[in-house]
Amino acid sequence: MSGLLVPPPLSLYIHVPWCVKKCPYCDFNSHGKTGELPVKAYVAALVRDLEQDLPLAWGRPVHSVFFGGGTPSLFPPEAIGDILSACSARLRFAPGAEVTMECNPGTAEFGRFEHYRAAGVNRISFGIQSFDDGCLRRLGRIHDSQEAERAVKLAQDAGLDNLNLDLMYALPGQDLAMALHDVERAVALQPAHLSHYQLTMEPNTAFAARPPAGLPDEDSAWDIQEHCIQAMAAAGYAQYEVSAYARPGRQCAHNLNYWRFGDYLGIGAGAHGKISLGATGEIRRRWKPKNPRDYLAHAGTPDGIGGDDAIAPANRPFDYMLNALRLVEGFSLADFEARTGLGRDQVATELEHARQRGWLEASGDHWRPTELGQRFTNDVIGLFLRD
Ligand SMILES: C[S@@+](CC[C@H](N)C(=O)[O-])C[C@H]1O[C@@H](n2cnc3c(N)ncnc32)[C@H](O)[C@@H]1O
Ligand code: SF4
Repeated sequence: MSGLLVPPPLSLYIHVPWCVKKCPYCDFNSHGKTGELPVKAYVAALVRDLEQDLPLAWGRPVHSVFFGGGTPSLFPPEAIGDILSACSARLRFAPGAEVTMECNPGTAEFGRFEHYRAAGVNRISFGIQSFDDGCLRRLGRIHDSQEAERAVKLAQDAGLDNLNLDLMYALPGQDLAMALHDVERAVALQPAHLSHYQLTMEPNTAFAARPPAGLPDEDSAWDIQEHCIQAMAAAGYAQYEVSAYARPGRQCAHNLNYWRFGDYLGIGAGAHGKISLGATGEIRRRWKPKNPRDYLAHAGTPDGIGGDDAIAPANRPFDYMLNALRLVEGFSLADFEARTGLGRDQVATELEHARQRGWLEASGDHWRPTELGQRFTNDVIGLFLRD
């Protein structure tokens, strides 16, 4: 049975589906740009899209906004400003709301960051990936290490101090010393936050079709991760999620809301949203057409909804754990009940099973992954899968 839902914090995700060129490892909804981007038409489509979603979120304050991609930094500051103004005219932004924009260092132009900041962006997430020029080339990146450092400094000079740097590890041709060197170079720039992703071979990417030579094996990847976690911790960046590390108080509010099974509206090509409807006890997921051309043609009309589904109560434990068990802090059973509308009895057997295997530990109401559980996140989450 599902009961009443306590509406959790609300976030807003805005997708920009274009990049300078498609990276061979990437399966995000991103498309190499071929000519002038239809910036004006896309901004108008986002506004129509948001208006159609508004009834899902009436009156609820927005705690964070995230421009993801693709490469949102391909859009000029005026366009980002127009989008934010349109959103804040239709939704109430909570005071101090975190507003992140992803930026490919190869698109960071001198003088632009001041304007992004004036438009309302207060956090930048840079896709650095590595500071090794050989690795960057093998990853098909459009920037080198110097450009990466320059981009970060430009943002800092513009007064943006809440920065994330994305690094990937287990790269083709990378050994432990090289991965540690990447962490060292990242830390030297003193960002507030680091994301450290293991390079994965995603289906339907150029790398999946033709894997690059020199990929470290699983044991080496694990070794790299362990050593990098220690190096980041020593530099003041504590791991708080599988791939996320932050200085004290600098965790990403937007991503934390996803991992705590919060709500979010998703606008833009292929964007996903998740909304809890307190009155009916429903949790709905809604997504938008992936193809930018379809999106532009249909945003704001019934065909501008790619799909809209309720999450059946039977599937909620898995959806909740898929997020919450990524967090080092774990979750409380009270939170599980408030966010899913289910009783704690619905997960008691699986939690006990995970405890017996040494994957989870409990302290009163609170459950968290052990070190072993952090190594086998997918197996732990898999316990909650129901057919
Ligand atoms: C949308 S991109 C970030 C912004 C911008 N598009 C860029 O790449 O500079 C999100 C991040 O996901 C990570 N990522 C993408 N594909 C990945 C893969 N196959 N394995 C691991 N991390 C990946 C990269 O670190 C990338 O920076
Ligand atoms: S990694 Fe970033 S720049 Fe590369 S294709 Fe994916 S979204 Fe675009």
